[in-house]
Formats: sequence, structure tokens, C-alpha cells
Amino acid sequence: MAEHATSTKPTLVLGGTGKTGRRVAERLRARGVPVRIGSRSAEPAFDWQDRATWGPALDGVGSVYVSYHPDLAVPGAVETVGSFAELAARNGVPRLVLLTARGEPESVLAEQAARASGAELTILRSAWFMQNFSEDFLLDAVLSGDIALPAGNTPEPFVDADDLADVAVAALTQDGHSGEVYELTGPRLLTFRQAADEIADASGRDIRYTPVSIEQHAAAAAEHGAPPEFVELLIYLFSDILDGRNAHLADGVQRALGREPNDLADYARAATATGVWNAPATWRAPA
Ligand SMILES: NC(=O)c1ccc[n+]([C@@H]2O[C@H](COP(=O)([O-])OP(=O)(O)OC[C@H]3O[C@@H](n4cnc5c(N)ncnc54)[C@H](OP(=O)(O)O)[C@@H]3O)[C@@H](O)[C@H]2O)c1
Repeated sequence: MAEHATSTKPTLVLGGTGKTGRRVAERLRARGVPVRIGSRSAEPAFDWQDRATWGPALDGVGSVYVSYHPDLAVPGAVETVGSFAELAARNGVPRLVLLTARGEPESVLAEQAARASGAELTILRSAWFMQNFSEDFLLDAVLSGDIALPAGNTPEPFVDADDLADVAVAALTQDGHSGEVYELTGPRLLTFRQAADEIADASGRDIRYTPVSIEQHAAAAAEHGAPPEFVELLIYLFSDILDGRNAHLADGVQRALGREPNDLADYARAATATGVWNAPATWRAPA
């Protein structure tokens, strides 16, 4: 598809040091597209909780990659993302790419709010990231050798954040993606037990999955110092969203990129090669 004419203006990458934003920023820079990171530690700082920071971050940008932290399901997120999209449109930013989550009612509301801004919008409605096991709240569980989760035997089509970033960059830099809702999944449905087995095989570590109750998981997270709002979010994601509603594959990667998505086994081999699963276990509360 044709490259977009605004690619000489910077692209604002919200959450640009996070799991997906970092990858989006790296890919844009490699293509020579100027990037402005939008995060609390960036210059100028961008903070979802401080609207005064939004205008300076948006000044002069040609497009925005919008990943909300921590999750669109937290109270106030839908209204915040809608207000941000409206401000972006008012500031003349023509193109937004919004990351949302499959099967999450709040994500659908955030998509509607962003659409109402009138900006050219591409939605990346994503499955669980494979990188949760290596770059986020499941890393410590992998390192401990016991992935204890209230996930039962519900299969999930884990997606590689590298694929998601490729789709985001296509939507940010090429014409033809506006108005699309790309549902992003990996190529296989896997239970958490199967995912743990794949990671064990690739890493050569002894790693198992232990199904636990929601209550046991919430208590363990709180005991390890997770903030109450994060514990609430985990309960919601595991009890309401991981109920089988997302247990089917989608073709967003194929439609956007014309290729198959990466498999969890390939991700696990690549993550093993980085050494991330060699470190000793230490609980990391979310930022
Ligand atoms: N994890 C999954 O499996 C999954 C699946 C589907 C959809 N999603 C969606 O993905 C989104 C998160 O994307 P991600 O995983 O790529 O990001 P992430 O790794 O969770 O986010 C970290 C980034 O957010 C920034 N950040 C943290 N607090 C902020 C604040 N108050 N204001 C501005 N920036 C802030 C951080 O930088 P600073 O610390 O410098 O601010 C960092 O750049 C969520 O909306 C979630 O619903 C996740």
C-alpha cells in the first residue's frame, strides 16, 4: 500500500516505552519516521492523568499510536481516551491507531468514543500478548517455575507484540487502513498449560501451570504487594473476560500484513535467546 503523505511529521507513540509502543517506535525510526514518545518520563511529559500534558505532546504530530495504560477496563479510561481523541482531532491530527482488547466491553466503548472524534481511525483489537510472559506481570511466575493463574482450561490465541507493532506501523504509515478493525490473534489457540509447556520446552526450564481460584490468585497478588486496583483488574480480566468468549482465531494480522502471525513457539525461542528467563524471580508490581 502507498506510504502516507504525513509521515514527515512526527508520530506520537503513547506508551512508547511499553510492550507495544517500544516496538512501534523502533519500527518507525528504522523507516526514518520521526517519533515522539508519549509517556510520563518523556520530554515533553505525557500523562493520561494530567490533561495539561496532552496539548504539548500533540503539537505538530501527523499521527498517534494510542495505547492506554494500564487497561481500558479501569474506571475513567473510556472517557479519557475519548477526550484525548477529540483533542487530537481538534488539533488537526489526521490519523489515530488505537490499541484495544478483544472481548472487553470497555474497549468497544473506547473505540466508539475515538471514532466520534472524526479522526481517521484504525483499531487494533488484540488478544493476550505473548510478551506478558517475558515483559510483564507473568515474568515472575515463569521465573518461579509455577504459572499459577485462575485461567482454568480456557484457550487463548496469544498474539506476538511484534506482529501487533507491524500492523500498527502499517496503519500509521500506509494508506488503506483507515476505518479497519483488525482483530489480532496468533495462529493457535492455547491453554495456559500448553503455553507454559511451550515456554518450558524452548527455555529448558522446569515450568508448570497450576490452575488456582480467583480468590487464591487475588490473595497471592495482594500478598506480593500488587496495588488494590491492579488486583481488581486481574480479577475482572480472569473472571469476566477469560470465559471462553475469545477462544477463536481472527485474521487481523493476515488482512493487514498479508502474512501469517508468529507462533508462540517462535516467540518462546526468541525470548529465551534474550536471556530474560535466566534471571532470579522477584515480584514486580506494575508501574
Ligand atoms: N497485555 C495484554 O495482553 C493486552 C492485550 C490486549 C490489549 N492490551 C491493552 O494494551 C494496553 C497497554 O499497552 P502496552 O502493554 O503496550 O503498554 P504497557 O507496557 O502496559 O505500558 C507501559 C507504557 O505506558 C506508559 N505509562 C504508564 N503510565 C502512564 C500514564 N499515567 N500516562 C502516560 N503513560 C503512561 C509507560 O511509560 P512511563 O512509565 O514513562 O509513563 C510505558 O511507556 C492496555 O490498554 C491494554 O488494555 C493488553
